Amino acid sequence: MGKFVIEGGIPLEGTVKVSGSKNAALPIMAACLLTEGECHLKNIPHLADIQVMGKTLKELGVKVERKGEKLSVNAGHLTRYEASYELVRKMRASFLILGPLLARLSRARVPLPGGCNIGRRPIDLHLKGLNQMGAKIEIRHGYVEATARKGLQGTNIYFDFPSVGATENIILAGCLAKGTTIIENPSRTPEVLDMINFLKEMGVKINEKKANLIKIEGRGEILPANYSIIPDRIEAGTLLIAGVISKGKIIVEGGNPNHLGTFLVKLKEMGVKIEISDKAIRATRESNINPVRVKTLSYPGFSTDLQPQLSSLACLAKGKSIIEETIFENRFTHVPELRRMGAQIEEGNSRIIIEGVPSLSGTQVTAPDIRGGAALVLAGLAARGRSEVFEIHHIDRGYERLEEKLSNLGARIRRKED
Ligand code: EPZ
Repeated sequence: MGKFVIEGGIPLEGTVKVSGSKNAALPIMAACLLTEGECHLKNIPHLADIQVMGKTLKELGVKVERKGEKLSVNAGHLTRYEASYELVRKMRASFLILGPLLARLSRARVPLPGGCNIGRRPIDLHLKGLNQMGAKIEIRHGYVEATARKGLQGTNIYFDFPSVGATENIILAGCLAKGTTIIENPSRTPEVLDMINFLKEMGVKINEKKANLIKIEGRGEILPANYSIIPDRIEAGTLLIAGVISKGKIIVEGGNPNHLGTFLVKLKEMGVKIEISDKAIRATRESNINPVRVKTLSYPGFSTDLQPQLSSLACLAKGKSIIEETIFENRFTHVPELRRMGAQIEEGNSRIIIEGVPSLSGTQVTAPDIRGGAALVLAGLAARGRSEVFEIHHIDRGYERLEEKLSNLGARIRRKED
């Protein structure tokens, strides 16, 4: 366990490059289970979650080799159909191996992913979809045991909620199912679409052009492919706020502005000047930060994964902001920590009301999860004096070398391992 020690009040300046997207890399690594050949992936970030997914795949007999930002994944000789509890409990996204493993081996045994700090995080849509495709699903001793003796059968599946993970699991299962699988009301995040583009490179026939429908033509054999992952829009948004909250001027390079639509609209509403050139975004604070009203929604709505970071900025706005969280039931775990830094925040009915204050004061705080931890680092950059953010292993799950990137922009931040 380690902590970040931050001396606040220094305006960040300069250019920072965004790493590859964690939430695109994870489903794409799971997609490699569908083929017996070797896939070569590029722009893979160095993150704890990527390591856990690599270990989970290796446990199944997959060859995973890392060289810098490249990853080769060869699922030619699967030796197991079961993932271990100790790995899945570390990273819920390991659950994404269920669909492809079941489709490839006609059976899979994966631990039920627990909830986590941000909410209950059910998997009913994943299981209902696989069941509709002909899988027999049993939950025994904390494991999901899925079998499909006659293989999976394509069918029409409707999602009550556009779940990212369920969309990914069912698309992956549909790739090797007999016939056509149609998902109605799917998630269409840039990360889901990146996985779809990877599958198309593997020769899978997928049509995602029709609004609100994704159609997958199952096929017998899937070829390996080489692919470069999209940039991480959540990291890009987090870094843009780092520049604004510290009253600095930074350029975030390599991010895709089209993936940050609603987020950039909200930053502009808060009085931030946004300039977009080819693959670079500059955010400049003009004067005071205006208060904001935000409601998190499924993509392309405002991302729940940027809600904690924006709430840190709203703590320093001139006036009252209202932030409503509709995706997860417990995604304000960073709020008590921000209060310790002097923020004025009331919480209730899955919303927070933030009364802006002239400044925050540095103190000790504890990261509750990936994005809540990032929000505390951002607050520490703006706060007067020294802040210490504990439990930074949460942050390392989703941010590659965060302290190095921020230091290169002039921040005084260092990592101290226990
Ligand atoms: C993905 O999680 C992301 N993780 C999360 O990012 C992100 O916050 C989330 O999507 C929402 O956008 C990865 O991509 C690895 P969901 P996932 O299934 O797939 C309901 C981060 O910080 N639901 O869209 O678990 C339930 O209400 C992480 O990088 C069901 O009801 O998200 C849930 O709260 C945190 N039944 C909501 O959908 C289901 O079967 C969002 O879940 C599944 C979901």
